[in-house]
Order: sequence, then structure tokens, then C-alpha cells
Amino acid sequence: MTDKPLPASSVLGRSIHTFKPRRSRITPSQRKALVHAGRNLLTFTNESLRSTYLWPEPNSPLIIDIGFGNGISTVALAEANPENSFLAIDVHTPGVGDLLTEIHTRELKNIRVMETDSIAVLEHMIAPESISGIYTLFPDPWPKARHHKRRIVQPPVMKLFHSKLAAHGFWHIATDWQEYADSIIGLFEQPKNRIAWSGGIVHRPDRPVTHYEQRALREGRAVTDFRFVKCNQLID
Ligand SMILES: C[S@@+](CC[C@H](N)C(=O)[O-])C[C@H]1O[C@@H](n2cnc3c(N)ncnc32)[C@H](O)[C@@H]1O
Repeated sequence: MTDKPLPASSVLGRSIHTFKPRRSRITPSQRKALVHAGRNLLTFTNESLRSTYLWPEPNSPLIIDIGFGNGISTVALAEANPENSFLAIDVHTPGVGDLLTEIHTRELKNIRVMETDSIAVLEHMIAPESISGIYTLFPDPWPKARHHKRRIVQPPVMKLFHSKLAAHGFWHIATDWQEYADSIIGLFEQPKNRIAWSGGIVHRPDRPVTHYEQRALREGRAVTDFRFVKCNQLID
């Protein structure tokens, strides 16, 4: 994990994080990619992120990939959707190095990467109603009840993401943890969320297979995909 201080977010409270602290030994090629990342690696600031200056296509719809792991699915998404700009965010340094390597090797122009807490980025750097989509593919499931407060799909985060999505923007979530899938269903079935979001489980999702998912499938775990679309304001 990054050794830089993480930006504070008021959404979950300063001490609650949705990621696991992991040792971050990086390879020489990951280090090289991090050092030479240039404009592909953005740093956290408290200023609103203006896609105008950061991606080659200023007005292209912005999609945020939260917790991209090693980035193989981010690369596939960006290659399949060159008309979109992608912001990929993770705290895991080796994965950031891997994704930067792929961006360089494939000469991808439509991905920018951040190595930090995505919740703080959404809170402080993204203007309201400005993004077209969010992917959270296989978020850490935090199976123990006492850790459920660390799950990314929970009411304060749902509210934050809803506020940053443009009208008809989507939130695509996938999980291989059935109890997490059940909890997601329960949250989106709450009356205020049923008004604010449309959609639900999708059976043949149009998205690439992720690194984590490959392992889940090998180990025989079923995958549930959700695609929610912002359809009304969220009334508290
Ligand atoms: C289980 S892994 C899944 C990785 C990838 N999406 C895949 O399917 O292969 C979850 C990832 O989310 C990242 N993560 C969790 N919370 C995050 C947050 N608040 N901001 C950025 N990354 C986060 C973790 O570091 C980890 O790499």
C-alpha cells in the first residue's frame, strides 16, 4: 500500500477504510512505471478534477474504476470504449505499477490513474453530477459482521456516488460473496433508493473478466453483477 498519507474523507470517518493494508513490495518494472508515469498518474488535491485538462478528449464521458487491482479489466474497458475517459483508483502500489506499465506499452490515451482512497477522491475532486459511470468490481467483501462498516457498498457511499453521477449514470458492482450480494439487494430495495436508482442484477454483463474474478471462478464461487442507474434525486 502507498506510504503517502491518505487524504481524509468525512464519508466513513477518518479511521474506517474500505481496503486492507497490504505489504507493497514492488518489482523493478513496477517502480520504473511509477517513476515515469508522467501525466498518467494524478495526485490527490482538494481541487475539483477537470477532465478538460487531463484527458485528450475533454468532453468525453468520465468513468471511474474503483479498486482496479492489477488493472487488466480497466485496460480492456478502456480499449473497448475509446470514446470514454477512465479514472482508475486503487491504493495497492504494485497494481498501480502494473496498470501504468500496460498504459505505456499499449499507448493508451484514455486512462488516468490515482494511488489513493477513491472515497476521498469522489468526495473532494469530483464535481456533482459530473461522471457517467462507476465500476466497483469485486470490492473487498469484509465477511465478518464487525467489519461490515468497511464495505464500500453502504449508505454513506451510495449517497456520495449518487450525488456525483450525472443523470442516467451507472454504478456497476460485481461480487463473488453471496452474503454481500444479499446485503446490496437489501440496501437498494430501501424505499428511498428504489426511487433514486433503477436496475439491479444483470445476468450477462457487458464487462471484462477481472483478475480477482478468475480466481473466484476457479474456486467455484458464483458471481453476481449489479447495474444500477441514477434515475431520480435521492431524498433523505
Ligand atoms: C478484491 S480486490 C479486486 C480487484 C479488482 N477489481 C479485481 O476484480 O481483480 C479489491 C481492490 O479494491 C481496492 N480498494 C478497496 N477500497 C478502496 C478504496 N476506497 N479506494 C481505492 N481502492 C480500494 C483494494 O486495494 C483492492 O485492490
